[in-house]
Amino acid sequence: MFDVNEVRKDFPMIQNNKDLIYFDSGATSFKPKCVIDAVMDYYTLYNSNIHRGDYDISVKVSKEYDDTRKTIARFIGADDPRCIVFTSGSTSALNLVAYNFGNSFLKQGDVILTSQVEHASNILPWFKAAEKAKAKIEYVPLNADATFDLKKYEDCFAQGNIKVVVLPHVSNVMGYIYPVKKIAEIAHAHGALVSIDGAQGVPHVKVDVKDLDIDFLSFSSHKMLGPAGAGVLYGKYDLLDRMEPLMYGGDSNARFYNDGTIILKGVPEKFESGTPCIEGVLGMNEAARYLMDLGMENVEEYGRYLTRYFIEKLEKLDNVEIYNPRSEAGIVSFNLKGIFAQDAASYFNKCGVALRSGTHCAKLIHNIINVTESLRATFNVYNTTEEIDRFVEIIRDTTIEKCVDSIL
Ligand SMILES: Cc1ncc(COP(=O)(O)O)c(C=O)c1O
Repeated sequence: MFDVNEVRKDFPMIQNNKDLIYFDSGATSFKPKCVIDAVMDYYTLYNSNIHRGDYDISVKVSKEYDDTRKTIARFIGADDPRCIVFTSGSTSALNLVAYNFGNSFLKQGDVILTSQVEHASNILPWFKAAEKAKAKIEYVPLNADATFDLKKYEDCFAQGNIKVVVLPHVSNVMGYIYPVKKIAEIAHAHGALVSIDGAQGVPHVKVDVKDLDIDFLSFSSHKMLGPAGAGVLYGKYDLLDRMEPLMYGGDSNARFYNDGTIILKGVPEKFESGTPCIEGVLGMNEAARYLMDLGMENVEEYGRYLTRYFIEKLEKLDNVEIYNPRSEAGIVSFNLKGIFAQDAASYFNKCGVALRSGTHCAKLIHNIINVTESLRATFNVYNTTEEIDRFVEIIRDTTIEKCVDSIL
């Protein structure tokens, strides 16, 4: 296990904000100095475009950009770096998959099997894909506490026309780690493909795409200690090869002709039209290395430890309702009884605690937890039990009057 006090020294945001307790890493994480340095070095030492210049600094940046595919492939256990497509984040990766299903992989009457815990970015593109292909959206019946029931899931396949399963590795509200390996095994046995939203899974859980045998995995750099503006779509090579880009333009084509014929480059370049977020990709390289140096098993264990620690403390308080008591991956959703989530969050802000309140972009989740708004505390490798203790004392003393006073 790593030493959290040493880890904290790597994060300028922590060093520069001594009084801030940041429990919103699920929205975006802080960045270690090595990531910030990678971005600074690019801008101050070899700022140039990739794949376009026949001069030293462009060759250097092109090599580092392309080498990042190897780092990310290693990070998620992929054999072939060509299966790593750089995108602007999870949302664009998830859209790319859904767009292709809507256009060419789905036909009328096919079923897209998803769940009611989905983040908007993993369900709205599928609504559009279903509309386009005249396919249907169906929801896996989850247990009452939103945990996953493999039997109920497998029963969904009795109807025989499920073509794709669309689920998160980790729900951004519930924090459960869904049994992705089993989910893929069952889907494949019934001829369906599996697209996993890894936005909250990849930063916190050791992922091995070969072992999980999933077809697609999407994630964002900015949630895994890297810069914003970059992300990844991992896909199995033969599937990516059959897919169309969402965008056309520079760097993704080999040739084009007067008559409108376009000859695209291969996977992954055909998906990467236009100048990408170069600094984001270079920073993501450092972020993945940093996480691998900490050890993803340690990151996962530490996330689980902080989550359990917080939940056990919350369970002792009378004024709190917890919605995911079995959460594992650094995400705890709760409310203070009788206090509107946003009011509580504004009060906590005055007390120096930053956390999320609202629907967390998962606007079907109320069908499961029976409330539309909740508070969400999310942890990362730089958070400590001392911060949790301080927050628990603040929660213990929170009253509706204090919350109202704080927003007046
Ligand atoms: C589960 C999940 N999926 C997708 C996204 C979208 O990520 P991004 O905004 O980085 O594209 C998020 C962001 O909060 C998320 O939590």
